[in-house]
Amino acid sequence: MTERSTLTALPEPLGKPPVGHLSRWTFDSLGLLEEGAALGPVFGLQLWRKAIVGYGPDWNRFVLGDMAGFRSKGSLSQLSPYLSAGIVATDAPAHRARRAAMNPTFHRREVTARYAEVFAGLAERHRPTGDFDASTFSSDLIRRMLTAAFVGSRFPDTVMRSFLAPLDTPLPGPLLRRPIKVRRMQHHLKRILADPEPGTLAELFATLPDGVQEMRVAIAAAYDTTAHTLAFALWELAARPELNTPDRAAAVVDETLRMYPSGWIGSRVAAQDTEFAGHAIPAGRLVLYSPYLTHRSAELWPDPTSFRPERFDQPRPAWGYIPFSAGERTCLGAGLATLMLRSAVTAFAGSRLDRVTEEIHPKGVLTLTPNGPVLLRRTPD
Ligand code: HEM
Repeated sequence: MTERSTLTALPEPLGKPPVGHLSRWTFDSLGLLEEGAALGPVFGLQLWRKAIVGYGPDWNRFVLGDMAGFRSKGSLSQLSPYLSAGIVATDAPAHRARRAAMNPTFHRREVTARYAEVFAGLAERHRPTGDFDASTFSSDLIRRMLTAAFVGSRFPDTVMRSFLAPLDTPLPGPLLRRPIKVRRMQHHLKRILADPEPGTLAELFATLPDGVQEMRVAIAAAYDTTAHTLAFALWELAARPELNTPDRAAAVVDETLRMYPSGWIGSRVAAQDTEFAGHAIPAGRLVLYSPYLTHRSAELWPDPTSFRPERFDQPRPAWGYIPFSAGERTCLGAGLATLMLRSAVTAFAGSRLDRVTEEIHPKGVLTLTPNGPVLLRRTPD
């Protein structure tokens, strides 16, 4: 360990006292991150509490490879009642056993065998014709896919819709406590878990302690992340018709997750004093990692703001592509999400897709979100 005297102060983007960076974090989080990233691979922010932000393979490995040193309790996910329970709020050592119980069912091969046909059928059936808003369409389709995979056709759609709706609203919507919605959702999930539909993920959750809560959190974590990714994918696809073929769908999804990682910022809390690249990190400090900055680093990804799925013909940089995070806490639903996304994108193959909205930008909210409607036009063959 380096002597304290050799440690240097963290660079920080300019902020206004007394609020520091909080108001920019609220209104222009991506701009603030980009400004910080220009100062170096780690930088400080004064939010409602002090935070250290980093990006790039070394930082990602340092933070995400050490479950005991960087904990989830007290991190940003705890701010939303949608994510503040279950596996997301479980730290080492209990985390490992819980993931071991869930991982096999969520393995890519397993979910593909179970749901590939179901998702392809839903995507074909609900494919829009004419003008449509890709955000609304994506949220609707992903909700249907999640219902089919998690709970099956007996689950009331009104309950699922109402539970997920706040995740589609601007801040502070997704952060507000929703006791009635949560109670209603849990009541219906409990009924499903008492007699799960064969082949649904409910069969797994029925075997877990606190399975109702665990399932509620998994459904919430699955929804807007996947839906927003799909909206961005269709937006990009509309500008590159030559990519609109089934064999390019996987690369289109991978590149969308690079440029628009819906988990644009992740967080931990340092469990003890440590240091990185000559900067002290005291115990209790909020520690942020950013898939968005990592994926837009020109050192790792040449021409990072161009949508080029061809880049995935080459191997990915280790710890440099982390849309689903990395390490033991990597996204439980990565296989399920990519299957939903590939199925949905494939359903557009062959049709003509045009942009109606001329410009959109990503906005860093709870998840990365298009900054307005994403109007597209689909013209069938
Ligand atoms: C494109 C879609 C998705 C993206 C980009 C995404 C991204 C992420 C990221 C970055 C994390 C790590 C958060 C952290 O601890 O720092 C995570 C965790 C998690 N995700 Fe996803 N996710 C997606 C879809 C899904 C789906 C479909 C599910 C369904 C099960 C899911 C369930 C979870 C759960 C349960 C965790 C917590 C894992 C743990 O703490 O061990 N996600 N996701």
